[in-house]
Amino acid sequence: MTSRSNSKGLRTHYASQLKDSVGKEVRIAGWVEDLRAKGSITFLTVRDVTGLAQAVFKRDELPEEEYSKLKKLTLQSVVSVRGIVGRSLSKKLEFEVKAKGLELVSKALHPLPLDPRGRIDAGLDKRLDSRALDLRNPKNLAIFKLRHALVQSIRAYLISNGFIEVSTPKLIGTATEGGADLFEVDYFGRKAYLAQSPQLYKEQLVMSLDRVFEMADYFRAEKSSTRRHLSEFYSVDVEAAFMDEEDVMGLLEGLIRKAIEDVSRECTEELKLLGVSLKVPEVPFERITYDEAVEELKALGVDKKVGDDLLDSDLKVLGSAHKGFYFITKWPVGLKPFYIERIKEEPEYTYSFDLQHGYLEIASGGRRVHDRAELERRLRECGLDVKGFEEHLKVFGYGMPPHSGWGLGLDRLMMVLTGRKNIREVTLYPRDRFRLVP
Ligand code: 4AD
Ligand code: MG
Repeated sequence: MTSRSNSKGLRTHYASQLKDSVGKEVRIAGWVEDLRAKGSITFLTVRDVTGLAQAVFKRDELPEEEYSKLKKLTLQSVVSVRGIVGRSLSKKLEFEVKAKGLELVSKALHPLPLDPRGRIDAGLDKRLDSRALDLRNPKNLAIFKLRHALVQSIRAYLISNGFIEVSTPKLIGTATEGGADLFEVDYFGRKAYLAQSPQLYKEQLVMSLDRVFEMADYFRAEKSSTRRHLSEFYSVDVEAAFMDEEDVMGLLEGLIRKAIEDVSRECTEELKLLGVSLKVPEVPFERITYDEAVEELKALGVDKKVGDDLLDSDLKVLGSAHKGFYFITKWPVGLKPFYIERIKEEPEYTYSFDLQHGYLEIASGGRRVHDRAELERRLRECGLDVKGFEEHLKVFGYGMPPHSGWGLGLDRLMMVLTGRKNIREVTLYPRDRFRLVP
């Protein structure tokens, strides 16, 4: 991080920059992690986004009015410490600030709802109720530093593959994917919905932009309460003209590999804090067809037949047989949305795939229907109102290239990379059926 000082001069250095400033006068600023008095010396540890710094206050060497300020400090208050950087005798920290002055910038009012140092156990719900404070815990902060690195990696990867980043409306007039899990909103007296995915827009955009991607939040009125569903989730969506399902599966494999390489390189501290060691997966990922998955389940005694959806319980069984990333391909037409293309020679099946990591679905995608008449047929088959989709259908009369794409749940991928079992842990302010605040 480069050296920044704010207008009031409260900070000249971050904690992580002390090592380069031995002998210099600095100002560090952060929140009080600990305060320990030993005779006439007080040790104050101050944390900032980069880590922990120790400031040493000696009563004999400071004016009384400076030293007595320490008494007014409460844990987690924001302070600014001025002093000279020296080597530390502490086992944990190599450098420290020999304090010359202290400023209490903003006092933390006690009792606080939780201890962000994690010394008092708090359940996830309690932590999420005070999320801003919870993120002062280095482990929790590490999750979101890692997420930042992941998002940058994905963006760079897609751009380097010729994709153009787009933003599509989140307020929409028609259900994108069909289905019942839509949030309805009042749009100046008309019915509108929050977008479930950018599906229809990204398909329309390939006819001009050729390859597009979008990273954004989408909304689903998920009634079930699970550890991997949110009502607002962050998705990475791609759509590409003249690519087929194999092409976009390859793109997805490359993205996962690159993401794991980048995050492993850039987030060594964070991964250490989280207790995770990542391995770059081999490509191609294992591929099993939907039919093979059903056969496997039957062989393991699960009551399944072709055409049945794969339930959570089934994915758990499959996930323990297939470790790491793998694809389930060639889903029956009845289990995939209207925009997915049928296989000509086997019309009961589609050019589709889900990317799994163990039991967890990470992404869904496939080859799309690009023929208007076929799209209309598929809408009807799915019991959807063709008239309602006219705005979308008309685009297919403008000259639509064949295309394919996928949508990847970023929060789900974050669960894999951080080893966290609950999607709420890897989302700053999760939204579910029961949580709308903070
Ligand atoms: O599988 P889904 O529903 O597929 C689509 O939205 C398609 N339009 C994608 C495509 O291009 N064909 O959603 C894509 C991914 C899922 O695999 C999952 O990882 C994530 O988005 N996802 C959710 N994540 C968290 N909470 C939810 N409620 C999610 N719903 C989907
Ligand atoms: Mg899916």
